[in-house]
Amino acid sequence: MTNSRIAPPELHGRIMGADAAAALIGHETTVGMSGFTGSGYPKAVPIALAARIEAEHAAGNPFCVRVWTGASTGPELDGALAKADGIEFRLPYNSDPIAREKINRGEMNYFDMHLSQVAPMAWQGFLGPLDTAVIEVTGITADGGLIPSSSVGNNKTWIDRADRIILEVNSWQNPALEGMHDIYYGTRLPPDRVPIPLVRPDDRIGEPLFRCDLDKIAAIVVTDMPDRNLPFTPPDGAARAIAGHLLDFFAHEVAVGRMPASLLPIQSGVGNIANAVLTGLVDSRFENMTAYTEVIQDGMLDLIDAGKLRMASATAFSLSPEAALRVNADMARYRDRMILRPQEISNHPELVRRLGCIAMNGLIEADIYGNVNSTHIMGSRIQNGIGGSGDFARNAFVSIFMTPSTAKGGTISAIVPQVSHVDHITQDVQVLVTEQGLADLRGLAPKQRAALIIEKCAHPDFRPMLEDYYARALVSSYGKHAPSLLTEALSWHQRFIETGSMRP
Ligand code: COA
Repeated sequence: MTNSRIAPPELHGRIMGADAAAALIGHETTVGMSGFTGSGYPKAVPIALAARIEAEHAAGNPFCVRVWTGASTGPELDGALAKADGIEFRLPYNSDPIAREKINRGEMNYFDMHLSQVAPMAWQGFLGPLDTAVIEVTGITADGGLIPSSSVGNNKTWIDRADRIILEVNSWQNPALEGMHDIYYGTRLPPDRVPIPLVRPDDRIGEPLFRCDLDKIAAIVVTDMPDRNLPFTPPDGAARAIAGHLLDFFAHEVAVGRMPASLLPIQSGVGNIANAVLTGLVDSRFENMTAYTEVIQDGMLDLIDAGKLRMASATAFSLSPEAALRVNADMARYRDRMILRPQEISNHPELVRRLGCIAMNGLIEADIYGNVNSTHIMGSRIQNGIGGSGDFARNAFVSIFMTPSTAKGGTISAIVPQVSHVDHITQDVQVLVTEQGLADLRGLAPKQRAALIIEKCAHPDFRPMLEDYYARALVSSYGKHAPSLLTEALSWHQRFIETGSMRP
């Protein structure tokens, strides 16, 4: 059936079942898989590999692999392999709950990386050799080009670097995806780097297909399994309030001439709040917007359909099941408004800085000076990873972080005296928003930042505690530049660990 998607006749003899393809993957080898969020990840071979690993373990044989991807994937990949105790090492991002538990129990090594740096680091050789690439594609053209799927991620690099390639040709993916992608082959390592010739979000600087040495293709597995992403929850009151504060902020920036009326290219992070902000933009006065971002979420589809978003550049879709069906049913129309690129380009610091992106990312906690923890709950339990937030935050025109002011039923303040882990330093956090308000931290010294963050962003239940702490820190701190009572600052987290609440 799907052989029509595999044009070169010489490849037909390499079509096989997922079990046979998985049998080509060896113990303790490195596998570079496609996939970025629940899009474009291989679905049949990882399940077959997990079954094989379970069988080997049942027979008393050790078996594990090192898994590289674009970012998070779906349950058929991370979930199945983690459940089988099959992943010895994982990079660069994970949001799978089973894998998260293994990582937090210390049973799985996890290298959490800036997503723009994965491909360069693979080329620099730090990550070691890549034995097998397992890549989902939409089809193979007559001249051997691979038509990318619903994510690009690191596929170009895995295809180029792997000794052996296994392809999943997925007929669930709409063939009209062909032409949406822009695969740039001009990246180099120092000292041979040259400027990347992209000056607008809608520039195309590459090719629509992956190049591939067909001799390296060891197996082709035909599938028709859907991408799997979680649905977004409808925006709650906090998400709507955060979106409202941000829309006011954008209007102000336009009014004072710092941004054009079409704003600047939007980068929107993962999660429900980021999606709620996009939804809020649908009813805003801003027109002709663009997005230069990592993932295309439901809210961006709404903006495109409302005629507000002229185009979106990303590396992957991250759509609810309903939105995925919506895009798949109307791919030819959306193709003209979207470009999917390798993640080293979608997240490239040079391009984020040149374009002047508006970066909007979620956080776990922020401290009164504006340091942000995006990854580690109570300083030691990883939630997901830094993802692309660092790529965008450091280089954006304006770097915004947003969160509800409390977590876990109000027992935790998201604004704390000192973050228990730092992902984004104060210099990379320019605007902080909670449902309580927005703190514009640009141009402020630490003590000015602290006063503003407590006033604008802290929840009223925790504001007196923060004010009391800060007043005593102003008096007793060792230095008075960024006053801190070191032991007390982290006692908020310790109290939660011991009692289940940050409240005394
Ligand atoms: N202390 C303790 N736990 C906290 C917390 C805090 N201050 N804030 C949130 N949490 C917990 C929540 O209770 C929830 O736990 P649960 O899964 O047990 O219910 C979990 O962390 C996730 O919180 P939630 O509010 O659902 O998160 P979200 O969907 O808004 O995402 C991040 C927030 C920070 C986890 C997410 O944005 C992220 O992973 N960021 C890093 C990567 C990134 O920014 N990528 C985008 C770049 S393009």
